[in-house]
Amino acid sequence: MQRANTMSNSGLLDRIQRRQARIGIIGLGYVGLPLAVEFARAGFDVTGFDVDESKIAEINAGRSYIPDVATHDIAAAVADGLLRATTDMSKLADMDVADICVPTPLRKTKDPDLSYVVQALEAVAVSLKAGQLVILESTTYPGTTDEVALPMLEAKGLTADRDFFLAFSPERVDPGNPHYTTRNIPKIVGGHGPASTEAAAALYRQVVSKVVPVTSTRVAEMVKLLENTFRAVNIGLVNEIAQMCHKLDIDVWEVIEAAKTKPFGFMPFYPGPGLGGHCIPIDPFYLSWKARQSGFECRFIELAGHVNGSMPDYVVERIADGLNDSRKPINGSRIHLYGVAYKKDVSDMRESPALDILELLTRRGAIVSYSDPYVPSLRHAGRTLEALSETEALRQRPDCAVICTDHSSFDWTALVETGIPIVDTRNALKGHTAGNIVRLSGRVIGRALVEV
Ligand SMILES: NC(=O)c1ccc[n+]([C@@H]2O[C@H](COP(=O)([O-])OP(=O)(O)OC[C@H]3O[C@@H](n4cnc5c(N)ncnc54)[C@H](O)[C@@H]3O)[C@@H](O)[C@H]2O)c1
Repeated sequence: MQRANTMSNSGLLDRIQRRQARIGIIGLGYVGLPLAVEFARAGFDVTGFDVDESKIAEINAGRSYIPDVATHDIAAAVADGLLRATTDMSKLADMDVADICVPTPLRKTKDPDLSYVVQALEAVAVSLKAGQLVILESTTYPGTTDEVALPMLEAKGLTADRDFFLAFSPERVDPGNPHYTTRNIPKIVGGHGPASTEAAAALYRQVVSKVVPVTSTRVAEMVKLLENTFRAVNIGLVNEIAQMCHKLDIDVWEVIEAAKTKPFGFMPFYPGPGLGGHCIPIDPFYLSWKARQSGFECRFIELAGHVNGSMPDYVVERIADGLNDSRKPINGSRIHLYGVAYKKDVSDMRESPALDILELLTRRGAIVSYSDPYVPSLRHAGRTLEALSETEALRQRPDCAVICTDHSSFDWTALVETGIPIVDTRNALKGHTAGNIVRLSGRVIGRALVEV
């Protein structure tokens, strides 16, 4: 059986090793676009598929819309004839590989929304042919490849791991991280069977420095969810410790800096205004949903979700502290947010806690403005808010400033020197000791306390 499988993927393996396999990437966002460029850079013929016409137009014009992907890399790949993009899913029939990188959000009920994955699989199933390799990269609950993808694809009459190949390989990209990119992040690969694992591993070995094969698609799916649950739970723990330290009058940042000098058994996580992005706030709920189907309650995930979800409210309390030093209420105060993207030096606003803080402050009657070099405008409560330049923000002298995202370009010294109360949720003002700084936890260095 093993031998028959190996034989059946030999044509595909040969095309992969000679870099002649035609690769289709479905979903050209933060995950799909860097991957498409990496395959094209390695000499593969790559077609990107997306439902968003504007992204297709940008790629075909040789321009990038993802900060981590350089426009000149896309322009070079397009000019060399190695990369093109289309909305025409029928072209999947020409591909040797279909790699699915579409969104996997949550529904309002916090249940998985697999509609994008299902739509992409429908398109793949229509043109599935013998010898093709189908890979799912979208983060999802364990069992999705076996229980959702496999029956949809086999409905055509072909058998996985014999006639076509099916694998799950989670994406681990960390947007904005200059040290780890597609090429040097080890890639987990789990196939429906040995021939599928072998084909998918052979493909990624062409562009990724290390491939880690595992024994099944379920294991590969679970690896990604363990990684992201680990982060969500540890961030939840440190956010709770931050709130505890505030009550105990201890600087949580100093505690973490000292604790991380331990060379084993400790890994630093940092508190902040709450979770953001498309992964950490969402993925653990894919796991808890699936576990619930088997009658298992994921207590850590629920608790971490609760603590992390409470952070924007906690930040608003710190803002009230900051304004209190100037004998002002939140209602009617002008509050300026520094950074609305979910993390440093990226433009991604998905699930950003700054948006929750904006909403909570607006509901309490504050007049909220923001600066973010990566987000020129945003929609809130049915209207468009335009970002202010830092100079304009300082000229307007708000009643309180809140550091939600510590983008590298912000001039913190200029902000501190204004003397206005600053709530620092990121320890961006480490080393500053001015009396107008309100830290997320620890001693409130506000004027009222200093005077006491
Ligand atoms: N962004 C990250 O940092 C990150 C990291 C690891 C894993 N992931 C996972 O990777 C997956 C993709 O995430 P992303 O951040 O790239 O999302 P994204 O929203 O940036 O990109 C997804 C793309 O898929 C397109 N799309 C939607 N439905 C489609 C369809 N039926 N056919 C073709 N294209 C379609 C969208 O138009 C969009 O361009 C998700 O499962 C996510 O959880 C994301």
